[in-house]
Amino acid sequence: MRAFRLYGFGLDGLAIGDLATPDPGPGQVLVETRAVSLNYRDLLMVKGLYNKHQPLPMTPASDGAGEVVAVGKDVSGLKKGDRVIGAFMQGWLDGPYTRDKSRTSLGGELPGTLATHFVLEAAGAIKIPDYLSYEEAAALPCAAVTAWNALFCESKLNSGQTLLVQGTGGASVCALQLAHAAGANVVVTSSSDDKLLRTEQLGAWKAINYRSTPHWGAAARELTGGGVDLVLEVGGVGTLRQSLDAVKYGGHIVLIGNLAVATGELPANLIIHKGVHIRGLYVGSIRMLKDVVAYMSSHSIRPVVGASFEFEQTIDALKLMESGGHFGKIVIRF
Ligand SMILES: NC(=O)c1ccc[n+]([C@@H]2O[C@H](COP(=O)([O-])OP(=O)(O)OC[C@H]3O[C@@H](n4cnc5c(N)ncnc54)[C@H](OP(=O)(O)O)[C@@H]3O)[C@@H](O)[C@H]2O)c1
Repeated sequence: MRAFRLYGFGLDGLAIGDLATPDPGPGQVLVETRAVSLNYRDLLMVKGLYNKHQPLPMTPASDGAGEVVAVGKDVSGLKKGDRVIGAFMQGWLDGPYTRDKSRTSLGGELPGTLATHFVLEAAGAIKIPDYLSYEEAAALPCAAVTAWNALFCESKLNSGQTLLVQGTGGASVCALQLAHAAGANVVVTSSSDDKLLRTEQLGAWKAINYRSTPHWGAAARELTGGGVDLVLEVGGVGTLRQSLDAVKYGGHIVLIGNLAVATGELPANLIIHKGVHIRGLYVGSIRMLKDVVAYMSSHSIRPVVGASFEFEQTIDALKLMESGGHFGKIVIRF
């Protein structure tokens, strides 16, 4: 099989290599890849900023969609020809998150999907609904599960409540789609007015350009008459102050990313005074992937694929992600 292999950290450390196609072990299936979506984590991984101890060479990327071409012993419920996606964490079936489960991620501890073939645990392979293409389905395992976990798994976002999503990348756009379908009002921030216009077509309620409105937290609080119920925090410490200004008293901030340059101190007094619930999360379980796929199917939600590239152009795709020029998901076609 052919795979993108990371031989040394940095985009110039990535090259296509030939590897033996693996046989699926007991309880596993072999998938022929049709599409892979990139997540910001993949870029960080390639650049050595995700885990500087990551053993190399390795095959990056967690999110793959394809066709089952071989089935190991003791597999039931899957057969050759099935269209599947793989769960980000192959060992987190359900229940509470643990250290052991965190160490079962594709494109991390396990070989990634940027290859013509990849192996999945049968329990971690989910059938793709008929209405989704391979490219759309490949967009789901990380971004959709993260958004689902953030919105509905602990602090449940209800109809009529308000969500603020930062930026228009894969995780944020998916959160916008899920929240809109649930009847929530979504405030979107972005560095680009053009991208904000696109979010209106997806049901965004209010839009704020975080470049031209650097104090967007206060702007969001005013728009919502007292603050949003939930913030999806992708900037991290560098944007937390604004998120704390945006959120209502007793509201929730779900911290998933660290994109912004960290400046200033952690505003502990504000967190305490406003009684804000701050929760970190790392993607989610196989159960959550099944749940979000069922939810998206029932609402006919199609993931937003903003750009797609051929397998051989993967480095260009990662450069696009690095530039932030994309909207929604970036997908690699096979
Ligand atoms: N914890 C988890 O399980 C989990 C899961 C998924 C993602 N993440 C994290 O979430 C973040 C986004 O991931 P992704 O895959 O969705 O990335 P992505 O598709 O590359 O999205 C990046 C977008 O974020 C926006 N952005 C960048 N800097 C920003 C800032 N300072 N303030 C507000 N928005 C900013 C930009 O949107 P505009 O161009 O519109 O400004 C940019 O296009 C990353 O940090 C990633 O590691 C974490």
